[in-house]
Amino acid sequence: MKQFTRAKSLSGEFIADLIERAHAFKKSKKYPNLSGKILGNVFFNPSLRTKLSFEAAMARSGGTALSLSSGSGTWAFESELGVRMDQDKPEHLKEAVRVMSRYVDALGVRSFASLGSVEEDAKEKVLSAFEEYATVPVVSLESAFEHPCQMLADMMTVQELVGVPRGKNFCLRWAPHIKALPLAVPHSALLAAAHLGMNITLAAPEGYDIDKGYENWVRSISHEKGATFTRITEPERLPEDTNIVYVKSWGAPSLYSTPARQQEELRKLSTWMVREQQLQRDSYLMHCLPVRRNVVVSDGALDHRNSKVIDQAENRLWAQLGVLDWIFSEE
Ligand code: CP
Repeated sequence: MKQFTRAKSLSGEFIADLIERAHAFKKSKKYPNLSGKILGNVFFNPSLRTKLSFEAAMARSGGTALSLSSGSGTWAFESELGVRMDQDKPEHLKEAVRVMSRYVDALGVRSFASLGSVEEDAKEKVLSAFEEYATVPVVSLESAFEHPCQMLADMMTVQELVGVPRGKNFCLRWAPHIKALPLAVPHSALLAAAHLGMNITLAAPEGYDIDKGYENWVRSISHEKGATFTRITEPERLPEDTNIVYVKSWGAPSLYSTPARQQEELRKLSTWMVREQQLQRDSYLMHCLPVRRNVVVSDGALDHRNSKVIDQAENRLWAQLGVLDWIFSEE
């Protein structure tokens, strides 16, 4: 059964094939023929881009996307095994996923990090339940630790902006937020840059490291491609000749268990907000959106001509068409 669920396990060749399809769809404005196909998406947290771009992709290709939000208009789903279900979740994913598989041709699932324990988040219980119980292909619409569809769209966007990315410079720049956010996009953005063979700088305060397993994976791909991986902790400094400044907020995993301290630390780091002055002449600004203006990125930087966040969001549509084309093809 085909699954597009784990960015870390995808080969470079497979990713390149999906991106090639995505570029071809975008260039030709032609869509795959998904007539009669139904994609059922389940969201465990809100979404604009992922939900609408998948629904639009299916509609434009002659298929249908049906979306459910767990606990809002459908049952709240339990993912823990062996629990007594006497709380607020009336249906277990063990039944729900198998039932949904009888109605649709593929399933998408958007889960979210609990941000309570990095070890628990790493288990990806919701995504794993879909992988285990689905009898149709599964696509991750973002999970606790990864956002593989965002990764594809980001790779497409970087290619459009810099031409040949190999050897060019990518900076993942941490930015403050009003609350801790998950590691999914930072992990996927770094994997994207590593697969593209870009020299990576991870610019984030002390303590705001990504998961060690992902960092090692990113470092090993970069090493294989002859690229570099550098970690810096100063808010002002961007490496010379940065081509892509990818801005993202995430929480410090070591503070997950102390939310009040996490909030306090985030407030202290407000000077990390990305400003127009930090954009070099030839560096492009990317962010997966949604973004809080003047908390994460200043108005001046977001509205700058080198800000490419809208093009990046558009590419979600084309990248996902590449995934859907593969998911529903006979190959
Ligand atoms: N970037 C992204 O996944 O956006 P949504 O949360 O709006 O889907």
